[in-house]
Amino acid sequence: MRHLISPMDFSVEELDELLNLATDIENNPNKYKDACKGKKIATLFYEPSTRTRLSFEAAMINLGGNVLGFSSSASSSVAKGESVSDTIKMISCYADICAMRHPKEGAPLVASTKSSIPVINAGDGGHQHPTQTLTDLMTIKSLKGRLDNLTIGLCGDLKFGRTVHSLINALVRYTNIKFVLISPSELRIPSYIREEVLEGNNVPYKEVTHMEDALPDLDILYMTRVQKERFFNEAEYIRLKDSYILDNEKMTLASKDMLVLHPLPRVNEISVEVDEDPRAVYFKQVQYGVYVRMALILTLLDIHIN
Ligand code: NCD
Repeated sequence: MRHLISPMDFSVEELDELLNLATDIENNPNKYKDACKGKKIATLFYEPSTRTRLSFEAAMINLGGNVLGFSSSASSSVAKGESVSDTIKMISCYADICAMRHPKEGAPLVASTKSSIPVINAGDGGHQHPTQTLTDLMTIKSLKGRLDNLTIGLCGDLKFGRTVHSLINALVRYTNIKFVLISPSELRIPSYIREEVLEGNNVPYKEVTHMEDALPDLDILYMTRVQKERFFNEAEYIRLKDSYILDNEKMTLASKDMLVLHPLPRVNEISVEVDEDPRAVYFKQVQYGVYVRMALILTLLDIHIN
């Protein structure tokens, strides 16, 4: 049985297969509409979510399956003190696969060791968010036509932003990838990613504090929200939250085929005026998120449709 806890759980070849399946689903949705008939996904969300939970649920419904679950720890037995291990043993009796989001780093990994159904990490604290990475990879591959030879700017909260950590882990395995890390010094990428993942794989990167300096060189600009819920000190959050605001004026510095991605939710970091720019693809990204999650569910349940 397979789980998806980190983006590294799939090899580059397996990722390729998964993205091809997701594209086939995009092009032929009818072919897959009963693929998961009689199957259930449990969405166990101990932390707020809109897109991720609903996209898992939409994915399973599009495959003809059903969904069950909870959307906050307050409304589940966790509020009574139940452990993740006990919850997952119990859920294994109700569902065929589950997606778990948890504020504690490593909780989905612990769950996977006790589970008799595939567990998907839907975000664990400030650590990883592999299904957002699958979404990001599909967006880049579909709209840029490649996952190699790219200069990628990651901007905003690189310290707590789990989507950034997962995306770097996945992308360092492709050829000729360069990163420009754009953040205030307080929100720099964690040193384990700098040292083990970037330097460990000889991947070139630059750290800058001004977005304007980076924009002209980028193929992809990946914007992120300052992760309010991970700050210990509200004053510090308020001081840093508007560090970067992408607007139409800044977009004039970028190349005409640079793409702007964002895992969403957006707060202030992209002005709504940018939404009209054809380079802004963050709402398309949401749609790709459903196709890759459909592909992931089929892959982990070992369901093959010809
Ligand atoms: C992201 C997350 O939860 O980490 N959201 C998402 O799943 N699309 C990004 C964020 O919350 O800022």
